[in-house]
Amino acid sequence: MTSLLLKNGQIVTCTKSFHGDILIASGKIQAVGPNLEKLSSATRVIDASGLQIFPGGIDPHVHMQLPVTGTVSSDDFESGTAAALFGGTTTIIDFVTPERGQSLLKALDKRMEEARESLCDYGLHMSLTSWNESIREEMRTCVLEKGIPSFKVYLAYKETIGLDDRDLIQAMDAATKLGALIVSHCEHGDAVSYLRRKLLSEGKTAPRYHAASRPPEVEREAIVRAATLAHVTGAPLYVVHVSTPEGAAEIAAARKNGQIIYGETCPHYLLLNERVYDRPAREAAVYIMSPPLRPAGYPEQLWQALGSDFLQTVATDHCPFNLKGQKDRDLTEFTRIPNGVAGVEDRLELLYTYGVRTGKISLRQFVALTSTNPAKIFGLFPRKGTLSVGSDADIVLWNPDAEDVISAETHHQRCDTTIYEEFKIRGKPEMVIANGRVVVEGGQLMAQRGDGHFLPRTVPNLGQF
Ligand code: URP
Ligand code: ZN
Repeated sequence: MTSLLLKNGQIVTCTKSFHGDILIASGKIQAVGPNLEKLSSATRVIDASGLQIFPGGIDPHVHMQLPVTGTVSSDDFESGTAAALFGGTTTIIDFVTPERGQSLLKALDKRMEEARESLCDYGLHMSLTSWNESIREEMRTCVLEKGIPSFKVYLAYKETIGLDDRDLIQAMDAATKLGALIVSHCEHGDAVSYLRRKLLSEGKTAPRYHAASRPPEVEREAIVRAATLAHVTGAPLYVVHVSTPEGAAEIAAARKNGQIIYGETCPHYLLLNERVYDRPAREAAVYIMSPPLRPAGYPEQLWQALGSDFLQTVATDHCPFNLKGQKDRDLTEFTRIPNGVAGVEDRLELLYTYGVRTGKISLRQFVALTSTNPAKIFGLFPRKGTLSVGSDADIVLWNPDAEDVISAETHHQRCDTTIYEEFKIRGKPEMVIANGRVVVEGGQLMAQRGDGHFLPRTVPNLGQF
């Protein structure tokens, strides 16, 4: 296996930033410090002067080839992880979503087959889409034998995959006994169903009513309820895609009370607002995701929450659909448009350009939010998420001054549209290294289908950070 020596870069972790070198061999970081020497004459020396060196990004919330309302999200594990690598993300965590009543382990086998195509390392969360006592036993197998210590529950989508409170309590109780983490989509499902029916009955069918059907208060209520039930049952809780400052404040309040709870947001909630839904239906459909984009003013407040450490991660909820044939296949009612947007490729560039460069978050927060915190929360640290001796050599050499403009014409995500079309970027990966191998250089991808490894995860020692 090749060895690499990165020379004279600005090494950035979530706790410090300093100039130095990193020596890589056998897929691992062998040394970090000043004036490091080559391992042998075969060591490739990479001049990192003028570049920043980050631990590879970890996106703990993506949906490759997810079946949704009669269609399937347009990136598969091969195309989606290729795009991830181009954007500096070297690890993803996707989901197993069993059908109601289906064995978790059967669904896991199928998902493992699909995920084998990945170019980058990957983990899986298990979704709990229904409840019975045999699921408790299967959860145990997931944690103890399959390397899956995180379980997703939906408080929304009650008609299909959501759990009611009684089942949620059982799921949390089971997770607590296993030391596992509950990952929760927090929207009040019954309230959303009621609002959807009401709006449709009033003839309010256009995409703009998607936002009205899932207002901020349904998120806040569900976060408070999930946090309360997690407190009662003792389950550690991770709240996905927090879209409102109110929701972030509830998580911060629970953390202040000593609860083990973490919050995630996504770039779209930081960078866009609901005014896009006023565009003509075919354009507006592109922006339909759940929770929806929020009123003008919310993104600024969410940035403040992020800068104040109210939230611990920025993930993407990557779940792309093509405009042609997927988003636009039926625009007659907003409820028929598949929910989800692309972003796995754009996350680091967006957060760096609009967060670090504007001073809304620090460089160290950037590393914590995109890599170190996901690694700690999901049982991958210190193997991933840091630049320490012994860690996997997943590394991004970042050019802070490289400029670009995001476009569906040039991105690598398999999607004919992007919600970030024409967004200007300043700061991008110059080179990406995964498990000690250069996988992106000079705009070229060197990784191949199947190069990624499944990451069996152990129950992390969760605390507050
Ligand atoms: O709109 C979204 N978020 N689509 C992806 C599936 C989910 O709900 O996470
Ligand atoms: Zn999601």
